Amino acid sequence: MKANVESAKTGEILLQDLQKRYGSYLAVDNVNLSISPGEFVSLLGPSGSGKTTTLMMIAGFESPNSGQVLLDGKDITKLPSHRRELGIIFQNYALFPHMTVEENVAYPLRMRRLQKPDITAKVSNVLDQVQLAQFATRYPHQMSGGQQQRVAIARALVFDPPVLLLDEPLGALDKKLRQHLRNEIKSLHNEVGKTMIYVTHDQDEALAMSDRVAVMHEGRIRQVAPPQEIYQRPADLFVAGFVGEANFIPVKVEAGIASTSTGEKLHVGDQKSGLQPGTICVRPEHLRLEAPANSASSGLPGHVTSMTFVGDATIVHFRSENGLELTSKVFNVSNRKRLEIGEACVASWSSSDATVLAQ
Ligand SMILES: Nc1ncnc2c1ncn2[C@@H]1O[C@H](COP(=O)(O)OP(=O)(O)OP(=O)(O)O)[C@@H](O)[C@H]1O
Ligand SMILES: [Mg+2]
Repeated sequence: MKANVESAKTGEILLQDLQKRYGSYLAVDNVNLSISPGEFVSLLGPSGSGKTTTLMMIAGFESPNSGQVLLDGKDITKLPSHRRELGIIFQNYALFPHMTVEENVAYPLRMRRLQKPDITAKVSNVLDQVQLAQFATRYPHQMSGGQQQRVAIARALVFDPPVLLLDEPLGALDKKLRQHLRNEIKSLHNEVGKTMIYVTHDQDEALAMSDRVAVMHEGRIRQVAPPQEIYQRPADLFVAGFVGEANFIPVKVEAGIASTSTGEKLHVGDQKSGLQPGTICVRPEHLRLEAPANSASSGLPGHVTSMTFVGDATIVHFRSENGLELTSKVFNVSNRKRLEIGEACVASWSSSDATVLAQ
């Protein structure tokens, strides 16, 4: 499709040293981010980390105290929001209740004073795209939350902006519907090839949808990377703890010998040479718990303290002889021997599955 190829060339966003203060409070602290045309980037972080404020500065609803926003190389920092031509979708959709679906979607085109036949054609085209053609004459209150959300997406897409900004667009919906709609937004992204900047505090959503995830904390971007890298190679303790579950094992090194804070020696053979002081981060699915006889000598001996069945897996809590508490996620496979509470076992992990983070 020619239109897609053309729009894929535009929509590059560059954030340079963006800073936003509310009084003495620094809500966004020197954010730098470069987003390629057609890329799907999530801003992921806990409540209050500055995600919405960052998005609002891109949209032009907030002005930064310092720094620039560039769209396709042009500085738009001072441009009013209605002249930025960015599609924006908020959490509460903000559909006009007294307008039908068609009228809601046509609104941005009427504001831009397009001719009626042109409006009709564009509206019908975009309603097809989000599979809402049969709802054209309904009012928002006659539709489900998920359908209303799709109207909001259609309204943001209809004037063909190079960039879509989405702020927790699925926040109000139940889990199943969120999963369904995130797949829809993702396939829409593949189809229309527009740059999408997606704000969420839901790590699963960010990992599943994004080309890259920017993890925010206290106004700063702590790491920007593809989802797998964020999960497997977190840059710091905050990212490791916020994205997924993790065991954190503080390690000190004295006279060339590495040991845990509870005094257990870690064998350098397992950890590769040159283990540094810091915190070892091991995901629960990478923590092995094996019978003492089967295990490599380098593990930590201890026992199972409790187990929780979570459907596809069992979460097994382990305590080492010196009292180090660790968690293992064991997938429930029918022919695997189940561990028992109180059972003696040895905890170990492969160095390739562990990240050592500075403290
Ligand atoms: N208009 C404002 N005046 C004063 N402080 C504000 C204003 N808007 C946001 N803040 C503060 O700035 C910080 C960042 O807010 P922001 O809305 O960007 O967070 P967020 O990451 O989007 O959080 P959430 O996940 O809860 O939506 C918060 O501490 C918030 O209280
Ligand atoms: Mg927010």
